[in-house]
Amino acid sequence: MSNKSTFIITIDGPAGVGKSTVGKIVAKRLHFHYLDSGAIYRALTLKAITKKVNLADRNALIRLAKRTRIKFRQTDSGTRVYLDNRNVTKLIRRPELTAQVYQLANLAGVRKEVNRIQQSIVSGKKYVVEGRDTGSVVFPDAPVKFYLDASHAERALRRHRELEILQDRDEKQRHHSAPMSPDGHRGEAGHPDSHRDASEHGLAYKKVLDEIKLRDRRDKARSVAPLVQARDAIAVDTTHLSINQVVVQILHHIARLAAQRRNNFRRSGLRQSRLCR
Ligand code: C5P
Repeated sequence: MSNKSTFIITIDGPAGVGKSTVGKIVAKRLHFHYLDSGAIYRALTLKAITKKVNLADRNALIRLAKRTRIKFRQTDSGTRVYLDNRNVTKLIRRPELTAQVYQLANLAGVRKEVNRIQQSIVSGKKYVVEGRDTGSVVFPDAPVKFYLDASHAERALRRHRELEILQDRDEKQRHHSAPMSPDGHRGEAGHPDSHRDASEHGLAYKKVLDEIKLRDRRDKARSVAPLVQARDAIAVDTTHLSINQVVVQILHHIARLAAQRRNNFRRSGLRQSRLCR
């Protein structure tokens, strides 16, 4: 970035590796902002689907990307994503949408717009940005870059657990809003595990694993800005690490780089005390 006060830390890696969880914690610890670039691709895909744009029509998708406003707002309960002023934070996480995002992410014209959006958001600020190409393409001059990876099996397990938690939460919400019978009980659907047996559990995991593998193939095989480790990115294999251990490793690397390139880091306002806790 040309702007002198901009300072970017990039975290790239495949689906389900924990970039968002880790990125948010690292950003908080360093008093940086946090940007999830995947949310922009997701929001554009949501708009294309809602407006019934043919996802095979490249020009229509590029036009749509050029005419869309995407904003992020930090709140106490997390970051909200706004698509043309509409809060779409939850909608963009739906699995049916996740399966379609690659159609827009494959297009150079769409990526150009998404990159422009990212660059304007971070301009003049300190950001942890995460995605697939943030270190390799969008912010090639970022002074600190990470590439997180983990085995397919581990990533699928993490995503599966996450989906289960969300499902349980939804079921609990449904349970609380379900009408109560005269004896004070609510419907069966209120019991999170009442209709989920072991085989169903195994099947769902296999589905998540297959989806992770498919998304990897698509992210790595696309001709424009494929998922790669930037030459100067630090690789962290998170397969056998907890979230906290990954955060500690990342902060340790940042502290080491800060000590090596003191002047460059001084203008970022990064304090040693935030790095060495
Ligand atoms: O990170 P997340 O899973 O939300 O990203 C959704 C999709 O957006 C990815 O599967 C990928 O196709 C696309 N993406 C991308 N480049 C990025 C971030 C996300 O192509 N920098």
